[in-house]
Amino acid sequence: MSIFPAVALAFAIYTLPPPPPPPPPDSGAALFQAWCKSCHGADGRGVPSAAARLEVPPADLKDCKGSTAETEDRWVGIVSRGGAAFGLSLDMPAFGDAVTPAQIRAVVRYARSLCGELGWPPGELNFPRAFLVEKAYPEDEIVVTDQARGQEYIYEHRLGRRFQLEASARTALDGQPRAFDGVTGALKYNVWHSLERRALVSLGLEATPPLGRQDVWELEPFVAFGANPGRALVVQGEVVGTWEEAGGFGGMSYRLGVGHELGRFVPMLEAGWTVPAAGEHTLSFYPQVWVQLSRLGHVAGSLGAELPAVGPEPRRPRLIAFVLWDFGDAPLFRGW
Ligand code: HEC
Repeated sequence: MSIFPAVALAFAIYTLPPPPPPPPPDSGAALFQAWCKSCHGADGRGVPSAAARLEVPPADLKDCKGSTAETEDRWVGIVSRGGAAFGLSLDMPAFGDAVTPAQIRAVVRYARSLCGELGWPPGELNFPRAFLVEKAYPEDEIVVTDQARGQEYIYEHRLGRRFQLEASARTALDGQPRAFDGVTGALKYNVWHSLERRALVSLGLEATPPLGRQDVWELEPFVAFGANPGRALVVQGEVVGTWEEAGGFGGMSYRLGVGHELGRFVPMLEAGWTVPAAGEHTLSFYPQVWVQLSRLGHVAGSLGAELPAVGPEPRRPRLIAFVLWDFGDAPLFRGW
């Protein structure tokens, strides 16, 4: 070979684009392929052979509804301490002793990116349910509330990224036990959320048909918001308007709640101010404590009181309570 083609060849090889570098060994993607793939699959959807072998199939980590509804910290907890620490399957191993916290955070962030879709409100904004204020976060949830003289059974069903349908039925203790007291349907839509600002806003509409004690249709449009400023306080609020068939505009209600998370407990104080189109204002306070009941956090309860402050007499203090099950998170008897 003459010198010229040899030089040309060497130059060509030298100027070839280099092969793409392998992902750095500490990247979330590489760690996921090394540690998680055998059960959860390269794409996060789960390996069928692992599902057949294990008692509980590995969670589908690519499922947007499942992954976005949880917090990053919860997943960091599960990967560090293993499924058993959260009442989940022993087959989900604990990685915490073998690897660094930074590696766990990286692999969890990668796993949470597998959803690949924008617009799902993050679980960090799923604040503890208050008694009065409607939650702004769309939920899959069953709630039973008790207000000393009546009970309400609420079913909330999430639709897609931002919608939630809700149906509730009320019974009252009216002399005879458990008289049927009416039903309400509602639709809610998360119009805005921001993880950086730790806040979200939703719009909704409640409709109560003339059933039970209700004798005319009632429509209640509302705005609900939640925020976690500085991660110190949980602030939730709602503004509701009321329209009655025939009667027209019936008034406004303003509700505001503030709470502070202390481990499994969230003490909260809510205020509800009702301004009817005709008649006296009422103002009540609702001190209450939200309690995480299951280790996973998908079953919770709350206990408190309604304390009337301003308004027509006679209004007495009464106990309020609810229990809820987030059925989108886990079956009722798992996660304890
Ligand atoms: C040996 C099999 C196995 C390996 C390896 C494994 N997992 Fe899991 N994982 C499971 C099983 C099984 C479950 C379901 C637990 C349950 O629902 O009881 C699970 C559940 C989870 C959950 C809970 C999901 C939810 O919706 O609550 C997360 C998060 C998770 N795995 C992440 C990971 C990550 C990240 C890795 C790699 C660092 C990993 N897993 C490695 C088997 C495994």
